[in-house]
Amino acid sequence: MDQWQKSQAMFERAKQSLAGGVSSNVRLLAKPFPLFFDHAEGALIYDVDGNAYIDYALGQGPLILGHSHPAILDAVNTAMRRGQLYAGQSELEITVAEALVRLIPSAQLCRFGLSGSEMVQAAMRLARAVTGRTKILRFEGHYHGWFDNVLISVGPPVDKAGPRERPNVMPGTKGQTASALEDFVVLPWNDLALVEKLFAEMGDQIAAIMTEGMMCNTGAIPPEPGFLQGLRRLCDQYGALFYLDETITGFRLGLQGAQGRFGVTPDLSSFAKAMAGGFANAALVGKHDYMIRFAQDVNHSGTFNSNVISMAASAAAIAELEKDNGAIYQHLEATGTTLMDGIRAIGQRLGLPLHVQGFPTAFHVSFTELSAIKDYRDYALHCDKERYGRFVLAMLTRGVRLIERGVWYISAAHSEEQVAKTLLAVEAALQEVG
Ligand SMILES: Cc1ncc(COP(=O)(O)O)c(C=O)c1O
Repeated sequence: MDQWQKSQAMFERAKQSLAGGVSSNVRLLAKPFPLFFDHAEGALIYDVDGNAYIDYALGQGPLILGHSHPAILDAVNTAMRRGQLYAGQSELEITVAEALVRLIPSAQLCRFGLSGSEMVQAAMRLARAVTGRTKILRFEGHYHGWFDNVLISVGPPVDKAGPRERPNVMPGTKGQTASALEDFVVLPWNDLALVEKLFAEMGDQIAAIMTEGMMCNTGAIPPEPGFLQGLRRLCDQYGALFYLDETITGFRLGLQGAQGRFGVTPDLSSFAKAMAGGFANAALVGKHDYMIRFAQDVNHSGTFNSNVISMAASAAAIAELEKDNGAIYQHLEATGTTLMDGIRAIGQRLGLPLHVQGFPTAFHVSFTELSAIKDYRDYALHCDKERYGRFVLAMLTRGVRLIERGVWYISAAHSEEQVAKTLLAVEAALQEVG
């Protein structure tokens, strides 16, 4: 642990004043312990011991343009000197809303907040107000934030989670009330026949189907062809709203998010991470006739909503991503494809059950004998998480920072040279962990 001496000392110190030494539980998963960072630029992040890492965590997804992107920093710097929080409107807010309406197929009206979690709350409230129903269908293994009424069946122990065909609605934390779980129905992802069966039974009680556009919090599991379209059709048939949570997929799977990539138009969708290139911003967008209810009889509020810094960051990030008709995505996809293919090839050469799936800008690596991971239980039962944890640590010691749950995020700042270095590290780390 010599290479992390200062981090280790800071972690011990942090534990005296911060619960567990961190401010988000996800960070407790870090190997060998939560490191302390000093600065970051482009694809590189530097810890307090002076170690540099090629970063594939990218702030858990937002940094699609890389760390400290000059255009974003300049825009924020200029805008924040004119004021930070007006408790009122600014033109920047219109600029970002107009960009979303222009780019996102389902966006007719928008509202801004600060986090993905908040937008999920707004979406559920709106769906319930529009339909007059309470139940929401969600999928096992999807993450929609940490609040009581959504931290449900995200990573349940499979032996307690009931039958695959109709999983139990499982709490995600101590302190959650039973009533927080009452209004949810849970199904496995990617099984349209089960959703059809459920709607035949109780479609008239369902306010919304809530789903990630691609399952990114458990593996990186694309929707089966026709799955999202089938959900859309069932919502239309039974008068429910179709809500796509694009917190991760928005501006990552392309300028139009998962909805553009998979050709489906939800009623409501939410965006966060990549839409502000590392700053806190989030949006709920959707059909005019639903969204307008926020101006009528559905409350959505927040002191820091559409603050100057968030809006300036988003305006700059989206402008960069949109340049030359989104040409940057070709570069992102090429970088990710080289990595995905390279990792697969190394796994094959070493005779390891190394599996890579997803899309080039967000893919997942695991040790499994399965040829495809299709839902939460495939991941929970058939992927060797302990071995992947050792791989993450072996990569860290070789100057590459990964996310423990196996997802890799790519930024436009990753160079060919850094990708080549990463693949050399993969080969050496795999030889170490076997
Ligand atoms: C799909 C999805 N929804 C919601 C959230 C919660 O977003 P936040 O952490 O910004 O509250 C996340 C976070 O990772 C997410 O991946």
